[in-house]
This record gives sequence, structure tokens and C-alpha cells, in this order.
Amino acid sequence: MFHDVVVIGGGGAGLRAAIAVAETNPRLSVAIVSKVYPMRSHTVSAEGGAAGVAAEDDSLDEHAYDTVSGSDWLCDQDAVEAFVHEAPRELLRLEHWGCPWSRQPDGRIAVRAFGGMKKKRTWFAADRTGFHLLHTLFQTALSYTDIVRYDEWYVTKILVDDGRAYGVVAIELATGRIETITASTVIVCTGGCGRVYPFTTNANIKTGDGMALAYRAGAPLKDMEFVQYHPTGLPFTGILITEAARAEGGWLLNKDGYRYLQDYDLGTASPTPVMRSMELGPRDRLSQAFVHEMEKGRTIDTPYGPIVHLDLRHLGAKLIDAKLPFVRELCSKYQNIDPVSELVPVRPVVHYMMGGVHTDIHGATPVQGLYAAGETACVSINGANRLGSNSLPECLVFGNRAGRAAAVFAGRYGDANVPRAILAQGRDEQRRLEQDLGRHANGRERIADIRTEMQTTMENGTGIYRDRDSMEKAADKLRELQERFAKAAIDDHSQTFNTELVALLELSFMLDVAESIVACALRREESRGAHQRTDFPDRDDDRYLAHSLIQRGSDGTGRVRYLPVTITRWPPGERVYGR
Ligand code: FUM
Repeated sequence: MFHDVVVIGGGGAGLRAAIAVAETNPRLSVAIVSKVYPMRSHTVSAEGGAAGVAAEDDSLDEHAYDTVSGSDWLCDQDAVEAFVHEAPRELLRLEHWGCPWSRQPDGRIAVRAFGGMKKKRTWFAADRTGFHLLHTLFQTALSYTDIVRYDEWYVTKILVDDGRAYGVVAIELATGRIETITASTVIVCTGGCGRVYPFTTNANIKTGDGMALAYRAGAPLKDMEFVQYHPTGLPFTGILITEAARAEGGWLLNKDGYRYLQDYDLGTASPTPVMRSMELGPRDRLSQAFVHEMEKGRTIDTPYGPIVHLDLRHLGAKLIDAKLPFVRELCSKYQNIDPVSELVPVRPVVHYMMGGVHTDIHGATPVQGLYAAGETACVSINGANRLGSNSLPECLVFGNRAGRAAAVFAGRYGDANVPRAILAQGRDEQRRLEQDLGRHANGRERIADIRTEMQTTMENGTGIYRDRDSMEKAADKLRELQERFAKAAIDDHSQTFNTELVALLELSFMLDVAESIVACALRREESRGAHQRTDFPDRDDDRYLAHSLIQRGSDGTGRVRYLPVTITRWPPGERVYGR
């Protein structure tokens, strides 16, 4: 099997990248290898919207500045400038491909406020933006006959020879068949890794596969210590209650029914109407305020941890049904409550990884022929804290860029005759997988136990607040879990949809990703954005205005070094919103 470009992952970034390859060079064959049917990718669950300057009173510079300051100056400003320029074009292109954006009464695109954005610039399709966006991309991809899909195939390895990627090894889940798929270029678009934590908005499929695959293939991971908590997830399932609910006027109340955010400095003392709502402060600061409320005994204890309430009752049924119908549906189906008349229990839950596979502004990693885009990648436009509604356009802008760059690379250097060493590596990987199945047949450790312990370790060690002690304990525990993983048991030996085998492989990826998060967090002795250390409470630009890069050594352990941040126009300053 050979394709000019293999895209791993069929979500927003993956589909956009595949379309870009097909648009750039129709002679190339593109494969999308996805562990789920593309419409089941996590992009489908995005709710609130996609940022891109649309209104007359807004500007690209303001979007760029909000993104830079929101990132606590850790983003690369050249990447942010490219992003804000291209985001509106991508959103408009989606409109032309059929995305049903919500509109104002006069027919113009409607935009809503979002956390940390000083102007209304978030395009939305009610509160089902991800569903409509993904559907639009999927139906567009279907119109290109050169895009071939391997749905429900699970990639276990990226094949690299002499510093260049030449394809992947993947399991067809329906049959258990293991295949080597060679390629001139590989683009990794598998999303984030929220499942290394116990409470997350992320689907079960978000297990950091692409991050670990690229890491094992020799690409460094960047800024892995920056883990975003979203302040409003449902307590048991972690299901997202969109920030749009607060943008439309929802309040956060503590156990006394008090809007507690007024007691915290969120940097949002803005005179503009958009930011008057304290509930629209940046996510890191809202999540930190929750922890302080908990410490003061002002949260409510539940079997699924402490919670506060989101109050939407004053918005009324008409507005909720028009703008937040999915929120009403989710509350009813998963919490058995109606937000029109009842309070919604919420807690901070892991939502997004600012870090990921280190790429340049075109999605290229240091491994030749290997690209990454979307949440898997770190370009970086998000720095230490991503602003809500920047991630969908990130998938589009950098999916497009990575697809174009990969197409050019494949057109220039592509050759179906891959080195023999690659085919040998493919056979070795097949043997390893078969041997692993045999070895794990005699294991005694339960996959679920190791996974649960890993998740608890991450929450306790590298949660909203961390310190040296908590992280050293986490690092020790993860080492222990890696050893126990070698003895994990598999009881299911069938070839057809062996979900236990997938769970094993996912756990192995998650453990690597978890270790990289802890290693980077331990080294960064400062507090910035989502990385809050109680033992180093201040931002330290002298030492840490830099990206962390973790590279896997030949012994399997990670080494951390730093890379300067690119500053083009906005020197580091205080992080305030619209003062
Ligand atoms: O709350 C939300 O709708 C999330 C949006 C985002 O993470 O971009």
C-alpha cells in the first residue's frame, strides 16, 4: 500500500489537511487513516464557535493581541499573525462549502463574545458548531476521489529511516489485519490527550496517540506542561457546557448562590460591553478561582467531587432554545435537569492541550516528511493558555498549511520506492504486535487499574495547581506504572474489533504523554497561564519566556531543553483584558 500523503486522523485538522493536499496537487493520492469513522472524531463535539475577525469594529491586530496576551506571551507571534489573517478566509470558505453559520436578522454572519476576546468575533452554528464544521469538511472531502479512507484503522507506528518519515503501520480493527502503509509524507492530526486525566471534556478516543507516535518517531513535543481546564464541565461525565452559555449571560454561583468571580482579579475590568461579564474571564483564571472557592469551603460536595452552579434560568427558554439548544439537550440527557428552570452543576475539567508535536508555521516537524496540525501540534499560537474558539480555526488554518506543505514535499521528493529498511521496520512492528499479544496474554495487571491510577496521578500531580513535591511523586508513580504496564493482561484474543488490544495500545501512548507533561512541568520553575506552581508563583520572563521541548532519548526517557519564543510586535506585558 502506498500513498503520496498519509493523514493520521479524520477530524477537523485531518480532513482540512487532506482537502488541501487534493487542492494543491490533484495527482497525489491521499489516505486518511482514522481509528474512528471521521464523523465520530472529537471535533464533532465542539460547541461554542470559531474565532475570526468579521465585524467592522474589530481588527486582525486586536485578535492577534488578545491571542498573544491570553497566551501569557508564550505563543509565537509570527504564527499568530498568520493565524488571524487566514482564520476569516477559512471560515468563509467553509460557508461556501455549506457550513450553516448562524446569522443576524439582516443576513450577515452572527458573532458572539467568548472568553478573553475583547470583541465579538466568534462565529457559531447555534451551539453545535463542531458538528456542522466537521460535516462540511467531511462532505467536501468526499467530493475528491483521490482521498482514500481507512476508517477504523489504528496506527501503531510511524516509519522513519535516516531522519525521514515514510509511512505508518496500522491495524484494521474490523479484521485484526496489520498492514504497512508507505508514503512520501505523513501528517499527524489525531487531536489531544485529555484522557490522561480523570475528568475531561475529551472523548474516550483522545488518548494522545499522535503525540506519542511522533515523539517515538523522533519529533520533540513542545510546551506539554500547559494543560487547559475548562471551568464548566458536567461533574460525572465531564461533558462540556459551552462557554457560549456564559457568553449569552450565564452566571457562576457558589454554594451560597453568590457570583463569586467578583472576588477575583481576572484581568477583565473592561469598559466594553462584551467583557462586562466576569464569567467571560480566561479559562485558566476561572479554573483557579474555583480552586480558591473550594479551599474556602464555598463549593458543594458531590460524589464526583466539588461543584459550583451555572445559572441560566434568567436567560429564558426562548433564548436557550435558539442559541443553546445543545446545552439544554445535554443537561437533560446526562444530568436529568432542565437549565430553563434548574441550576446546572459544573466543575473544571481538562479540555485542551496547549502543547503538542513541535512544528514550524507550515506544520513541518524536525523529522523530514512528518507534519502535524490541530490540537496534536504545537505551532504555537496558544502559548500558556488558549482562548476559547481559537482551536477550530487553528485546525482549519494549520490543517490547510500542513496539507499544502506536505503536498509540495511529496510532489518534489516523493517516490513509491521506499527504502528497504522501512519495509523491514514494518515487518518488525507486525512481529512486535503479535508477540505483545502473546506476552500480555500471561499478564496479571489490569489495563483499567493502570489507567485509573495514571489519571489520578496526573490530577494530583499536575492539576490546576502544582509544586515540586506533587510532581516528583507523579513522576515516580508514572515510572512504576510503566513497569506494571509491561505486565498488563489481555483476555480478548479475537481479531474482530479487539477493543481490549486498542485500550492497551492507547494506554502505552498515554503513559508516554503523561511522563512528558510531568517532566516539562517539573523543569519550568515559574507560573504562567495554565501552569501554576505554588512554589514559584510568579511569571519569570528572564528564565522562561521560552518553549520547552522534550525529546525522547534512545533509552526511552525524555530530555527537556528550551527554544526562544518568537516576538514580532507585542513585547511581554501584564496580562489584562481591555483595561
Ligand atoms: O466552551 C466551548 O464552547 C469551547 C470552545 C473552545 O474550546 O474553543
